[in-house]
Amino acid sequence: MMAAAKMKVLFVCVCFLAQSLAQNLELPRLPYEYDGLEPHVDEETMRVHHLGHHAAYLATVNNVLSMLRSNETTKPLAKMGIDKLLQNLDQVPTEHVTPLRNGGGGFVNHFLFWKCMSPNGTRFEMDDVFGKAVTAQFGSIQALLQEFREKATKLFGSGWTWLVLEHSTKRLYITTTPNQDTPAMQVGHIPILGLDLWEHAYYLKHQNKRAEYISSFFNVIDWKATAARYEEALKQPKTEL
Ligand SMILES: [Fe+2]
Repeated sequence: MMAAAKMKVLFVCVCFLAQSLAQNLELPRLPYEYDGLEPHVDEETMRVHHLGHHAAYLATVNNVLSMLRSNETTKPLAKMGIDKLLQNLDQVPTEHVTPLRNGGGGFVNHFLFWKCMSPNGTRFEMDDVFGKAVTAQFGSIQALLQEFREKATKLFGSGWTWLVLEHSTKRLYITTTPNQDTPAMQVGHIPILGLDLWEHAYYLKHQNKRAEYISSFFNVIDWKATAARYEEALKQPKTEL
């Protein structure tokens, strides 16, 4: 093959690869090192959780998106974005619903989870917009955390506990979801803080002591980022991914 022809084939291949990659979701970098949350959340758990579990959800959802893209009928669904797809599972062919719900939910939930934490946490500010909303609606940050802890403790099996903003009413509420479901599957319900209560999130360090893990999470909550997410969510329902 002539050199020019080889170059042309190489160029087409590179473009095709770039296009394929551009359409895939990617594993986000953590906003800190794997040992950055020590001693509250251990390095080994963070590494396995991010590179093992989050990456597996990512592979599942990318596989579904790839299959949706390969069919002219379902192609528009793949362009919808994962947040909207999770709100419109009734439009998805039956065989893709469960992997999309589990893989897609797992991907977006962990995408938020990493950003809910920071080394040693950040201060909750009573006087900013979020702080005032918490005081008005829960009475105090302590009351919010107590309700959060109770719901996290009582959740049976694997799932999540959330602080959610209901956009239409501006109401903050705490809820739990099973498996990898997200409150954002309901339009206008925007999770601003989430705690992963799958055993993979804590078993290496805390074994069966979920209460210990909840306390550890409280030590690393990034309230500053949570307050920023709250203010952003007040503006409009989020569709980030
Ligand atoms: Fe997890």
